[in-house]
Amino acid sequence: MSDIKKVGVLGCGLMGNGIAQVAATAGYETKVRDVTQPILDKAKSVIEKSLAKFVEKGKLPPTDRDAILGRLSFTTAAADLQACDIVIEAVPEDLDLKNGLWKELDGRCGPQTIFASNTSSLTIAAMAAATKRPDRFVGLHFFNPVPLMPLVEVVRTVTTSEETFARAFAFAKSLKKEPVAAKDNSGFIVNLLLVPYLLDAIRALEHGVGSVTDIDKAMQLGCGYPMGPLTLLDFVGLDTTYRIAEIMFAEYKEQKYAAPPLLKRMVLAGMHGKKSGKGFYDYAANPPVVSSLGL
Ligand code: 3HC
Repeated sequence: MSDIKKVGVLGCGLMGNGIAQVAATAGYETKVRDVTQPILDKAKSVIEKSLAKFVEKGKLPPTDRDAILGRLSFTTAAADLQACDIVIEAVPEDLDLKNGLWKELDGRCGPQTIFASNTSSLTIAAMAAATKRPDRFVGLHFFNPVPLMPLVEVVRTVTTSEETFARAFAFAKSLKKEPVAAKDNSGFIVNLLLVPYLLDAIRALEHGVGSVTDIDKAMQLGCGYPMGPLTLLDFVGLDTTYRIAEIMFAEYKEQKYAAPPLLKRMVLAGMHGKKSGKGFYDYAANPPVVSSLGL
């Protein structure tokens, strides 16, 4: 354990609930905040299902599961996170939304509290500058599914103090994750490389280079990737990927980050991937079948 005892998590979507789960699993009192009770209830049930899988496999004793669940609490009030030693934010990629929450907590949290964003594509500097603690602000970027993926990018911006970076790095290790240090450039290390690859897979589909299943199969069997790129897009969320692409394109003005028209159409149609039931694949069927995209 690090000097951190209480963890706050802002937002409990796909990433937030996983972050809360690993924090509570590592022994931290963890408070999760989202806007409505039904969202919190859903997150709790996702965490319970994930823990149940570990229990089923004999990787987690049932008593530990109960203790983990006992360390988790849920609230709709951001103010309830004021006693936390670190607050990790995992709300949608909207700078105004994030900074509104940071400003509220900045006035309430103690001077030792670290603010950490799980942003995929915004810069840490753009959030740190909105607070009076730019030296105690870092990026902690987790990967989906958080309970299984070992990596955390620990991001230091121009204002992050040496001490904050070291505390955040030690905290990531205490979650039994493998931290790497990354610079505060949009996309950090992984998304800088991964996002153009995912967008190129959509462009390949648009250009008729291969079918949905063949593009996925090619990258799985040809490169040994655990998932094909279109399956991974459904998994990450097409809405999330679209927002990431828009932010990265605005930052770098490079074509490789431009959202392909097909991605935009699918997001407009509510095809957000696995979480919405439909993306490149239709998850109403078991096993999922390829969606009809009018291509
Ligand atoms: N909690 C607990 N267990 C889980 C779980 C969860 N959340 N999700 C899956 N599992 C378990 C499954 O039950 C399964 O158990 P079994 O072996 O007993 O059946 C096991 O993990 C393996 O799962 P699956 O059989 O469903 O599938 P895979 O073997 O393909 O493994 C995977 C799943 C680990 C997700 C693997 O496919 C993978 O590594 N995919 C790539 C994921 C990836 O690239 N993530 C990064 C996305 S980018 C990102 O997050 C950054 C953001 O900013 C965009």
